[in-house]
Amino acid sequence: MSQNIFLIGFMGAGKSTVARELRDHYGMRLIEMDEQIETQEGRSISQIFADNGEEYFRALETRLLLSLEGESNTVVSCGGGVPMREENVAAMRLSGKIIYLCATPETIYERVKDFHNRPLLEGNMNVDYIKNLLAQRIPKYQSAADITVAADGNDVRAVCEEILQSIM
Ligand code: S3P
Repeated sequence: MSQNIFLIGFMGAGKSTVARELRDHYGMRLIEMDEQIETQEGRSISQIFADNGEEYFRALETRLLLSLEGESNTVVSCGGGVPMREENVAAMRLSGKIIYLCATPETIYERVKDFHNRPLLEGNMNVDYIKNLLAQRIPKYQSAADITVAADGNDVRAVCEEILQSIM
């Protein structure tokens, strides 16, 4: 496939799982934004937030997205906050299709509750907080997306098929 796919959605929506499936079974190259930023910076996302704050991290996200111009056949698993910046959405639109993976706050909570690698959820690990932040973000996710795919309930292969069919 010549097009790139940008997977957006809340933390725990399943972006990384779907992205790996697209790499392993559909021959796409994978870029996991958080991982790439951690490698570039030589420290974890939590450490970046602690040392330099959220805005610094957001600037790294934008820089990484802009550097992807020219890629093809690549699936990008975006950090959950990426579509909050208009310039990020514009950069994604230029080089591919934007897929919003949506999931309920309850599903998200179940998927994230045992991890401590997401600074925004540290000390806020509960369904109400997730529900609130998700509600603030949904308008941005929806307006950025070319298509929306439900990522809870559906198995990962079905999600991939739905994505690929809808962008063909
Ligand atoms: C964030 C999501 C995280 C990571 C950072 C901030 C967010 O990525 O980029 O902790 O603002 O939603 P995942 O969505 O891959 O967990």
